[in-house]
Order: sequence, then C-alpha cells, then structure tokens
Amino acid sequence: MSDYPFFFTWSAQNAVKPIELAGGEGAWFTTADGARWLDLGALAYQVNVGHGNRRIVEAIKRQADALCVSTANAVFPAKVELARKLLALAGPGFSKVFFTLGGAEANENALKIARLVTGRLKNIARYRSYHGASMGALSLTGDWRRAAVEPGLPGVIHVQDCYCDRCPFGQRVETCKRECATNIGDVMRLEGSRSVAAVFLEPVPGANGVMVPPPEYWPIVRAACDAEGTLLVADEVLTGFGRTGRAFAHHHWGVVPDMITVTKGLSSDYATIGAVIVHERIAQHFDERVLACGLTYYAHPVACAAALETLAVYEDEHMFENSARLGPILLRELDAVAARLAVKTFVRGLGLLAALEVEASPAAWAKLGSELSARRLSLHVDGKRGTAIFSPPLCITEDELVSGVRAFGDAAVAAFGAR
Ligand SMILES: Cc1ncc(COP(=O)(O)O)c(C=O)c1O
Repeated sequence: MSDYPFFFTWSAQNAVKPIELAGGEGAWFTTADGARWLDLGALAYQVNVGHGNRRIVEAIKRQADALCVSTANAVFPAKVELARKLLALAGPGFSKVFFTLGGAEANENALKIARLVTGRLKNIARYRSYHGASMGALSLTGDWRRAAVEPGLPGVIHVQDCYCDRCPFGQRVETCKRECATNIGDVMRLEGSRSVAAVFLEPVPGANGVMVPPPEYWPIVRAACDAEGTLLVADEVLTGFGRTGRAFAHHHWGVVPDMITVTKGLSSDYATIGAVIVHERIAQHFDERVLACGLTYYAHPVACAAALETLAVYEDEHMFENSARLGPILLRELDAVAARLAVKTFVRGLGLLAALEVEASPAAWAKLGSELSARRLSLHVDGKRGTAIFSPPLCITEDELVSGVRAFGDAAVAAFGAR
C-alpha cells in the first residue's frame, strides 16, 4: 500500500513513485532533495509561463487581500477584464465566456451548450484524443482512459485520426485527398442528416501524439459542420496560450470554431480556472433562453487575477513569439536525435509542442524513463503510445532547449541503441 493518504491519478496506487516538488524558476523545477530538473514538459503541459513567476504570485496576493470570495453571478474587475482579454485573444466574433475550473468541465459545458443550442444528441470526436475525466468529457475521449468506464454518454461517435505518419486510410500526405477530414462529413451524413450537435477536436492532439494536421484539414471540417448545422468545438486545453506559437492552435488554419475550451496555460496552473469561449452566433441563443449551466466556483477571484496576470506576462515577455521562434529549433534538434537512433522514428511538432515517436520494446521505454530521471530531465514519456512529447515552458531559452534535447538524445541512445 502507498503510504500517502490520498489517491494518485490514472495509476495503480502501489506503482506510483512521486516526485516531491519544492519550487522552481523559469524552465526549471526543484525537488525536495534539492535536485534541479529541466522541465521539458511544463509539468502536465500547463506551466506555459514557467515556474516561480513572482508577478503572478503577487497578483494572487493582491486579489486575496482585496476580494477573496465571490459568487457565480457577482461581478468584479478581474472577472470582467479576464473575459474581455479572452474574447480579444480568440478573435472577432467571440462574445461570451463561460468560466469553469478546468478542462473537463469546459468540455462538459460545451457539450451542454451544443445540445441546448442545436437540440441534437449526437457528438463526434476522434480516437486519438483526450477531453477530460468527467463522464461527458471522457465519453468524447478516444484513448484508453474512456474504455475503463464505458458505457459513457450515449450518442458519441468516434472517427479516425489525422495521423499522417501512419494514415488510417492507407494514404500518403503528398497524394491523399484528406480522407481523414472528409470522412467526418461522411460520418455526419451517415449518422442521419442534421443529427450531430458538435464535433470536438484538439487542433493538434496533445498527449495522444502531436499529429499536426495538413493545412486543409480544419477548413474541410469547418465546411462539413456548416453544411450540417453542426457546431465545431476546438479543445485548446493543451494547445492554447502560445503552446504552438499562436494564441490558439486553430489560428494556424484561419478557421473560426463555435466554441473554444481552455484551461492549463490560461493561468499556467497558478490557480484553478478554465473556460468555454463562445462565438456570438451561439451565445445569442441564451439572450432570452436560460443557460442551464452553472458552478459554485465560477470565476473565482484569485483564479481570475492569476489568469489575468498570466496573460499579461505572455504579452510583456513575448512568450507566444518565443514559442513560434523555438519551434523549428526543437524540430531540428529532434531530427538530430532521431538520426542517432537505431530504431524507426517519426518527428512532428508545431511551436513548443513536439513528439518523437519511436518503435521500441516496453523494456527500452522503461530504460528511457530511468535514463531521463538520472539526467534530471522531465517530459512526457509514453511507452504504450511510443512517444516522447516535448512541451517546455514558453519562457525557455534557446540554450536551455538545445542542451535539454541533446541530453535527451544521450538518454534515447542509451535506451534505444545507436545507429
Ligand atoms: C486536450 C485536453 N482536453 C481536456 C483536458 C482535461 O483537462 P482537465 O484535466 O483540466 O480536466 C486535457 C488534460 O490534459 C487535455 O489535454
């Protein structure tokens, strides 16, 4: 039995070997034993702003002093200002924000809003996706985490992924007709014309492997949704706030979704907050009709202040631009790692979100884990999916990134063998 009086998540309790976090600064965190780790994963993809940011800590303190408790339908300056900032970041046409505590709740409320607006019961999501651990969000989720609690919400249809390195349609990206995207329209029609409420997509799937879509993918899905009166939800929980080099990843493809769900980088996890950012064409439905959604901890003052200051830090320190600038360097360094390895690999990424996919045995993946720990490198290593995913804080310097990925390369050579 684990000695700790609480559960660890997504794990058999006896298998967990937790790290004891003690603090951190920038791209580094420290553990209670005094060790300093380079955080190439932004913990759980969320510390976009970096560790130990004093500006955010001070903003939290100021807000706690001024107003620490509120209630859902009360207003105060940080709440109003944060909503305005989020709408501005989302771009023209977005008019309302629904606040939540995290990503699962954001998708949960987007599901409800889609049902309330369209009156339809079906939804589409992809297999290689994660949308959160609550029952509705987990029903949308396509990966192994859904199977554990099935059956979930009725009416969720899963479709194949945009996975160019291993195309589920047997195509090559140079010659394909974007079957992964057109298939979504086909499935909508086959499910019964005008029966799908919403399509939920991560603009770039995160934990499931960073499969960056070709430029036509999102426009094709948007057109299919328009033809069916179906809403398009961009789950930007992981990809939002500069992770891919733009405020939101869907901005790369010039498509306007109907709702955007966010958390993680919103406050960089300095406090608990998420949101659904809603387009005017959806929001206006509730001008005269009841929005049957609500939470006790809706827009907590301390979380609003933390998020507001996080957004200001991104802007003042040009962190989205840093992500865009360092993205090609990250890919270059990962290509160099791949060239050192004896095994089959794929490298893909956008901004400071990238994956190295490796065909290797479970034992080799376990060895990679211990080689990385020995080097005090933290990132997302997933032997089941065969991926190592990089998502460092957006404040990382070029030197830190390059030396970190090179050290990762040494660990990978030790685990997978040299070419
Ligand atoms: C794309 C995506 N959506 C939703 C979630 C769920 O967010 P939360 O854990 O805050 O509920 C996650 C969490 O990792 C995610 O990566």
